[in-house]
Formats: sequence, C-alpha cells, structure tokens
Amino acid sequence: MTSDIIKKNVSLRSLNSLRLDSVAEYLATPASLDALLEALNYARDKRLAITVLGEATNVVLPPRLPGLAIKICLQGLEHDGTRVQARAGENWHQLVNWTLDLELYGLENLSLIPGTVGAAPMQNIGAYGVELSEFVQEVHAINRFTLEQHAFAAEDCQFGYRTSLFKDAEAEAWIIINLVLQLRAEDSPDLTYTGIIDALSESGLGLSAKSVASVVCDLRRSKLPDPASNPNVGSFFKNVVVDRSRVAELRSAHPDMPMFTAQDGYRIPSAWLIEQAGMKGKSVGDLCVSRQHALVLENNGRASAEEVNKLAAAVKQAVAERFSLQLEQEPISY
Ligand code: EPU
Repeated sequence: MTSDIIKKNVSLRSLNSLRLDSVAEYLATPASLDALLEALNYARDKRLAITVLGEATNVVLPPRLPGLAIKICLQGLEHDGTRVQARAGENWHQLVNWTLDLELYGLENLSLIPGTVGAAPMQNIGAYGVELSEFVQEVHAINRFTLEQHAFAAEDCQFGYRTSLFKDAEAEAWIIINLVLQLRAEDSPDLTYTGIIDALSESGLGLSAKSVASVVCDLRRSKLPDPASNPNVGSFFKNVVVDRSRVAELRSAHPDMPMFTAQDGYRIPSAWLIEQAGMKGKSVGDLCVSRQHALVLENNGRASAEEVNKLAAAVKQAVAERFSLQLEQEPISY
C-alpha cells in the first residue's frame, strides 16, 4: 500500500541548508495534523525509522536517509493578547516579524535565525543576549510511537544552552507541532549584548524593538555567511563552557583568550579557538571552515556528510591539541 502524501526516493539536496546530497527513502510533507498522523501510521505499518525535519538548517544528512523523512509543514499563527501560538512548520523569522508588527515584543534579538518554529525549542535558539526559553510557555508535541499529544510546560522542557528535552533525552519520541510563547506588551528590548548598543548608536535608529531587530539583521548579515549563497548550518560547534577552576589556568596560559560569564559557567568563543588553532579557511574537499566566521562550515560545491565529519574532526583535533579543550558539535548528524 502506498499513500498519496508519501513519495519514494526523494532528493533532499534543495531541502537542507548545507546542500548535502541526500536521498530520503520516503518523504512526507504533512501540512495538517491528520496528514502527520497518516504519515506516522504509515511508518508504523511499514516499520520505517522516522527522521523529522523542518527547513533542515541545523542538520547533517547522510547520502541515503533510510525510512521516512517527515518535513513538518504545519502552518498557522494566532495570538490572544501577548500569548502567541505558532505551528511548527512556520518560518521562524516570519514569526518574529509578525509579532513585531502586532507590537508584541521579546523576539527581536532572535531575528533572522534560519529554520522553522518547531526546530527552535529543540535547540533552544539563542542570539545577541537572548534565548528562546525566556518566552516559552508551552511546547505541544505528538509522540511518534503512541500518537499521544502532550503539552509540555516550559519548566518540563529541560532548556539549556542550545539544548532541550527534545534534542537530547526524548529526541526519539516527540515531534513538536505547536509552540506557545508569552511575549511582552512593553517595547523594552534586551540590550545586554554590548554590540547591540554600539550598532544602535551607529545606526542612528531610536531605541525600540524594531530598531534592535534591524541592527540584529545587519549584524547577522555582516558576521555570518548567508546560507543562500554559501550553504551552511550556522554555528557548527557550541561555544565551550568551562567552570571557574579551569578559568584561572586558561587565563594564565592564554592571556588574550576571550571569555564571557554565563549562567552555566564561563563561555569561550569556539570561533576564536578555531581561528587561533589555525583552522579558519581550511578545507576538506568542497567543505571549508568559513573565512568570514570560523564557527561556520560552508559547502562550496558537492560536499558530502563524510567530508563534514572529516573537517569537523580535524577542527576538533586542532583545538584539542592547542588548548586541551573539547569542541562539541551543534547540529544533529543523522
Ligand atoms: N571570533 C573569532 N573568529 C571568527 C569569528 C569570531 O575569533 O572568525 C571571536 C571574536 O572574538 C568574537 C567572538 O568570537 O568576539 C564571538 O563571535 P560572535 O559574536 O560572532 O558570536 P559566537 O559566539 O561565535 C554565538 C552563537 C550564534 C549567535 C551569536 C550572537 C553559538 C554556538 N553561536 O556565536 O548563533 O548568532 O553568538 O549572539 O552560541 C547559531 O547558533 O547558529 C548561531 C549563529
């Protein structure tokens, strides 16, 4: 039995932002909950493994993806006062713009982050001093094995730096279908990231959430390679987190090493470590460490997942040899 909504042997090259050649054994693109349930039932009947994708802006795909890939296409944005609900297949940046047009505030620092709403809580997206978890009220998900739906309260999502319950512990079980956010009615943007204040005063724009959104977009465009012209998945490694005892030792060995205090300890920019370890601009096949930002790997042609793994391993090794620090990969490799 085949299903109308499921296609066989589909190239995912144009559907992942690293533009890796990858063929899904089966692909479903459900735009409704019923279609998603149909896809899940299909996978259960045929005993297919499931891979859930949004815009695939934070994944490394293998040449052949066995089982059923489900690209979540659920659309819909609603609000009730400052409470916003967005379906998982909505584009993240469009959600940010929609909320700002409604004069609902908080997401401005998270402007222009690639990907979908459903992927955002998985890795607790963050940028320019703000993390998504600050605004999450609930995450609605469906259990891919039992088809049970569940509303997770924010405190049950285990949000951390670029992680959550949905990326780690229960990643296999839950498919995010809906995100509920509590935003602010007051236009009082978060200016803790110093670069924002500098950029605002240079821009001559007044102090408002829309101005912050505008300078964040400019900062991202100037700092990070554009996935449309230089295929990439954003930061390929997390910044390194170390505790206080390690800081003193690192400071004396490397006095110029930048460090930032964070809730979870001290963060060291992995981009700096990679550049100092001499890996900026290095390549394996068509894949290179971006010359624009050392934390990003760019595909300049037909790079494969194997090349991604080789270059990532070389970067990790160079940083470990130079600084005795371990880089941790940020995107999910399938
Ligand atoms: N740096 C270098 N070489 C480079 C680039 C940067 O040495 O090629 C150093 C500079 O000292 C710079 C520091 O690294 O001051 C930090 O760079 P940046 O401000 O660009 O931020 P980041 O720590 O590299 C993080 C997030 C980004 C987010 C920015 C802004 C992670 C893994 N990445 O990058 O998120 O946009 O801060 O808040 O935490 C993403 O997750 O995909 C992403 C782009």
